[in-house]
Amino acid sequence: MSSKYLVTGGAGYVGSVVAAHLLEAGHRVTVLDDLSTGHREGVPAGAEFIEGRIQSAADHLDPTFDAVLHFAAYSQVGESVTDPDKYWRNNVGGTTELLAAMRAADVRTLVFSSTAAVYGEPATVPITEDAPTAPTNPYGATKLAVDHMISGECAAHGLAAVSLRYFNVAGAHGAQGERHDPESHLIPLILQVAQGRRESISVYGDDYPTPDGTCVRDYIHVADLADAHLLALAAAKAGEHLVCNLGNGNGFSVHEVIDTVRQVTGRPIPQHTAPRRAGDPAVLVASAERAKQRLGWRPARAALTDIVADAWAFAQSAAPQQEERQQ
Ligand SMILES: NC(=O)c1ccc[n+]([C@@H]2O[C@H](COP(=O)([O-])OP(=O)(O)OC[C@H]3O[C@@H](n4cnc5c(N)ncnc54)[C@H](O)[C@@H]3O)[C@@H](O)[C@H]2O)c1
Repeated sequence: MSSKYLVTGGAGYVGSVVAAHLLEAGHRVTVLDDLSTGHREGVPAGAEFIEGRIQSAADHLDPTFDAVLHFAAYSQVGESVTDPDKYWRNNVGGTTELLAAMRAADVRTLVFSSTAAVYGEPATVPITEDAPTAPTNPYGATKLAVDHMISGECAAHGLAAVSLRYFNVAGAHGAQGERHDPESHLIPLILQVAQGRRESISVYGDDYPTPDGTCVRDYIHVADLADAHLLALAAAKAGEHLVCNLGNGNGFSVHEVIDTVRQVTGRPIPQHTAPRRAGDPAVLVASAERAKQRLGWRPARAALTDIVADAWAFAQSAAPQQEERQQ
């Protein structure tokens, strides 16, 4: 059955991939995005596009929508430390308005992009949803605050909601891929080195208690993440706030990721070791058992070579556009 969805942040990386998956599944999609970090050309063909802010969601939501998928947020950890107010206003303030608009329009289902950053430095890995939440930066704190707001909305007003806590999202889906500016994610940064757009890759610390001394992270293919969103829409129940981690449950070290990029691209990747960054845990790996049980989700593209190959294909196709924009 075809449904109609509002996708906030659908001109950004994850939102554009999920919007494409919804359209491919035969649904109708309206993207609401202010293009603050997103790209108009990232919005998939077939989606209606509204250039606007979630703070004004009430102008665009009406009872014909079946659900909202909420990706719109600022998500640069470093910037959230230097300009926390910007993050609280947008991520929390904006979501307050969005929830009120959903209530007013009687749109009663929500899927929200939460993050592993809500857990901070984990005491044990793999990380389950019951782990203590102790974000180490304002970005993670704003996302946790929104999770709390959503729980309240479910309890008080019967919202059906699923928060998906992504670990490290990577890869691409055809024309939709990762283009953050500034880029802070490891795989696109290494690919910039492979393309000659960056001289070398910094490895922050090689003396962690991990097999090769570099940090270990859980990389999840953005198309697998998109599958989970469609399953979450089906699993959402009135009055319940379901929270699920999304990761592969496999960690890869920074050195393993760099080596995989060398293999996939066939290009040299100069690297240098830099001091550890404050607040970087040695290992962050998800337990995705709950997503498997409650959503019936299974990652289909867990191999790091596949994730990197798709990200590389996208980076190669997007490079000419990026050069044009820089001129
Ligand atoms: N990429 C990851 O690895 C990752 C990991 C964990 C969680 N997340 C979360 O997933 C979501 C999407 O991340 P992304 O990597 O695609 O980021 P992105 O910056 O590419 O996308 C965010 C989009 O939201 C839009 N936006 C921001 N504020 C807005 C507002 N007030 N009104 C309307 N549009 C607004 C931006 O223009 C952008 O298109 C974010 O909520 C992020 O916190 C991402």
